[in-house]
Amino acid sequence: MAPNLAVDLAPHNPRELRLRNPVLVASGCFGYGLEYARHIDIQRLGAIVCKGTTLRPRAGNATPRLAETPAGMLNSIGLQNPGVEAVVAEYAPVWERWTVPVVVNIAGESAAEYAELARRLDEVPGVAGLEVNISCPNVAAGGMAFGVDPAAAAAVTRAVRQATTLPVIVKLTPNTADVVGVARAVAAAGADALSLINTLRGMVMDVEARRPVLARGSGGLSGPAVRPVALAMVYEVAGAVDVPVIGLGGIATAHDALEFLLAGAAAVQVGTACFVDPQAPLRIVEGLAAWMEREGVAAVGEIVGAGRL
Ligand SMILES: Cc1cc2nc3c(=O)[nH]c(=O)nc-3n(C[C@H](O)[C@H](O)[C@H](O)COP(=O)(O)O)c2cc1C
Repeated sequence: MAPNLAVDLAPHNPRELRLRNPVLVASGCFGYGLEYARHIDIQRLGAIVCKGTTLRPRAGNATPRLAETPAGMLNSIGLQNPGVEAVVAEYAPVWERWTVPVVVNIAGESAAEYAELARRLDEVPGVAGLEVNISCPNVAAGGMAFGVDPAAAAAVTRAVRQATTLPVIVKLTPNTADVVGVARAVAAAGADALSLINTLRGMVMDVEARRPVLARGSGGLSGPAVRPVALAMVYEVAGAVDVPVIGLGGIATAHDALEFLLAGAAAVQVGTACFVDPQAPLRIVEGLAAWMEREGVAAVGEIVGAGRL
């Protein structure tokens, strides 16, 4: 019998977030799904997390805002997006026709803004859940400021929780000394699931120009370079909370995804690897299924946390 890859990422929420497999694509690395739909069969993904959405349209940061690094990349896009109204009007009607669930990633400058975004998206057909980004390192106001402080992170989570019955995933930053403290606070405040990690703050210097390569100075590091850092954080957080944890950071192969599942992640997201190879997430789905079949694992839940000490 083919192995069962299905997962529910919001088991305590009546609206559920049931996915056919545990492989999502990460925010900012898959647009709104429409672009990649021309290249791969997106309906075979576990879910799509769209680009960060704000109340008003944002043009993003000045360029250059991308730089390559050893085994990774730096970005400081700065949440460029058309705003929630356009997302609801232009993208959600398309998502409604898809079988793959779409989760909307949201970002604000205050708890009230996050709540307003959640209210606007609550009953929109085509929106399967929210991912609350309290971890963006590339904006002047809001973003990561909420994610480094347990009380502020909990306040945003509570505000969103009160504004919507949709499944709520809260996305954590690695740029804090106390990721477990933030994770516990967010789970207690009503998050259905947690995702981690967002990017790690980093910088590249242009030696000839004697200036940082990115116009804004620093940016967020992603790709294989961050994977061991992400894995250790996912391991720690999964051992500390009783809501599903979604692991991401440098995942490019089924082997990488298995590392996160064994560490305790209920699902994974694929980000930067989509830029290198749009087929990567689907290859990971196939690779997971093949591995489970070979190992005699009937359901993916059997291996979640199975590698923990
Ligand atoms: C170009 C780019 C844009 C991103 N935009 C967002 C975003 O809008 N919201 C968000 O929560 N994360 C954003 N991220 C972070 C990714 O979703 C992910 O957390 C991070 O890149 C680590 O995963 P990876 O190594 O698989 O890319 C972005 C990452 C990249 C590379």
